[in-house]
Amino acid sequence: MTDHVSTHQAEEDARNEAIQIYVNGRIVPKAQALVSVYDAGFMLGDGVWEGIRLYNGRWTFVEEHIDRLFEAAKAIDLDIRMTKEAVIAAVLDTQAANGMVTDAHARLMVTRGVKTRPFQHPKLSQQGPTVAIIMEHSRQKLPRPIRLATVPHMRGLPMTQDPKLNSHSKLNCILACIAAEKAGADEALMLDVHGFVNTTNACNFFIVRKGQVWTSTGDYCMNGITRQKVIDLCRANEIPVFERNFSLVDTYSADEAFLTGTFGAQTPVGSLDGRQIGMGQMGEVTERLRVLYKALVGA
Ligand SMILES: Cc1ncc(COP(=O)(O)O)c(C=O)c1O
Repeated sequence: MTDHVSTHQAEEDARNEAIQIYVNGRIVPKAQALVSVYDAGFMLGDGVWEGIRLYNGRWTFVEEHIDRLFEAAKAIDLDIRMTKEAVIAAVLDTQAANGMVTDAHARLMVTRGVKTRPFQHPKLSQQGPTVAIIMEHSRQKLPRPIRLATVPHMRGLPMTQDPKLNSHSKLNCILACIAAEKAGADEALMLDVHGFVNTTNACNFFIVRKGQVWTSTGDYCMNGITRQKVIDLCRANEIPVFERNFSLVDTYSADEAFLTGTFGAQTPVGSLDGRQIGMGQMGEVTERLRVLYKALVGA
């Protein structure tokens, strides 16, 4: 099958060829935005990142994203050497340099920085972190609902590489995505260590059954900001919502399924492992949550 799509698929936008990128305090044209082959992020995936979205002049939930970035940096013992305010200022400067007012997405990346020698030890990064912000014009564009496939790659336990970390190294998720594509799907649905449905390789996962919205307990998945906003919206609008364990049996027979993430907000799922979910199209509850979410973010 060749017609794969991804939740991170956006409308073609020629302006993205001429964007300005933030690298360590400088804002430079895309072609000049380079980091060293000695960079710990390149060499080892040693870094953390966040994705944020601009809707009508506002970076949505930016404080929460910056808090999560700093929490992740602390967890990996990486000193960003910037205040939270300075990181937000860097985002705003990059936005101004690009003249962006809405429908933009930024990937904020912090790595342990350039190493003195090409080996693993973190102490070899002596120059301080590398901080980069790639900001693109971005509107999600999907020709159809997402097809998922379950894969053998699991969401790991917190004492290995905690799946709550937005680490640069995403190899487990990448392998999951490759396996899903080889199975003819677009993205991977990953199970937890007990076999319960957890999350996809890049987004949080929800099902709708008989008007109830279910998502995983929150263990083993990214503590997605969009995930939490959807849960909050359900609670505020009397849509029954449960963070609970559920299996593939519950999922195949769901009326609706959707993904959440900053990039795509709420993305409908059409099928899982070759079984159509509900009508195979965006369902009523998903549509309602999309409308509520749009109003929340001012999109
Ligand atoms: C594995 C994974 N799950 C879910 C998400 C969605 O999180 P958020 O809603 O905070 O963008 C992300 C995004 O960073 C992710 O990497």
